[in-house]
Amino acid sequence: MATPDVHTDFRTVVNERRSIRGYKPIPVPRELIEEVIEIAKRAPSSMNTQPWHFHVVTGEPLELIRKGNTERMMAGSKVDREIKMNHGYEGPHRDRQVEIAVQLFEAMGIERDDKARRQDWVMRGFRQFDAPVSLVLTYDKYLEPAAISQFDLGALSHAIVLAAWERGLGCVINGQGIMQSKVVREHAAIPDDQNIMICIAMGYPDESFVANTVKSVREDSDKFVRYVGFD
Ligand SMILES: Cc1cc2nc3c(=O)[nH]c(=O)nc-3n(C[C@H](O)[C@H](O)[C@H](O)COP(=O)(O)O)c2cc1C
Repeated sequence: MATPDVHTDFRTVVNERRSIRGYKPIPVPRELIEEVIEIAKRAPSSMNTQPWHFHVVTGEPLELIRKGNTERMMAGSKVDREIKMNHGYEGPHRDRQVEIAVQLFEAMGIERDDKARRQDWVMRGFRQFDAPVSLVLTYDKYLEPAAISQFDLGALSHAIVLAAWERGLGCVINGQGIMQSKVVREHAAIPDDQNIMICIAMGYPDESFVANTVKSVREDSDKFVRYVGFD
């Protein structure tokens, strides 16, 4: 497939990009993913260390990851990540977490007390929203404590989702997909000397999937920005 002609200006790409949680069941050409990675790898990193590895997973290994994630989560297994997590969000962070969930559930017509559909939504997350591709991002274990390298992978992730969006691909950066990191490690054959940071689901957006239209809210800048030393 030919690469789409891309001329969208940066501001438009940033403003219009949304997390995509419903995908067309069609494969993404490997060349297109390669092109996205070529662009995204221009992301800055601490001392240009570029401490990232990409494991681009599709087909049977990805199906096995979905199956393993689903089985473990249904069995009530504890979340098992390879990065340290905080104890949970509080205050305005929690409010924003709830706000995006409410937006998504309202768009999908999932009622507050509809446990079955809420559960189904959560399970979709563990299946990486049935995306045809998952990019598993890792860094070398010896870098621990790895806050600065994790920061670098964050910068890289934004570059990936923007470069993908500009090419007609949707993504969702997806913590749920690696909540059972042993499953991902096994089926994606992640080397022992790397830690799994995050995965990014990728594919062609399904325009009929209403959650894909949800535009998340951002705080007014004057609530979190201080200017120091200006007149
Ligand atoms: C580190 C990280 C982890 C995320 N994990 C999930 C996830 O597990 N499930 C999900 O539906 N969205 C996940 N997201 C997507 C966020 O919910 C989304 O980026 C946020 O609500 C803002 O919406 P937008 O991406 O549409 O602007 C994650 C995003 C980031 C940056």
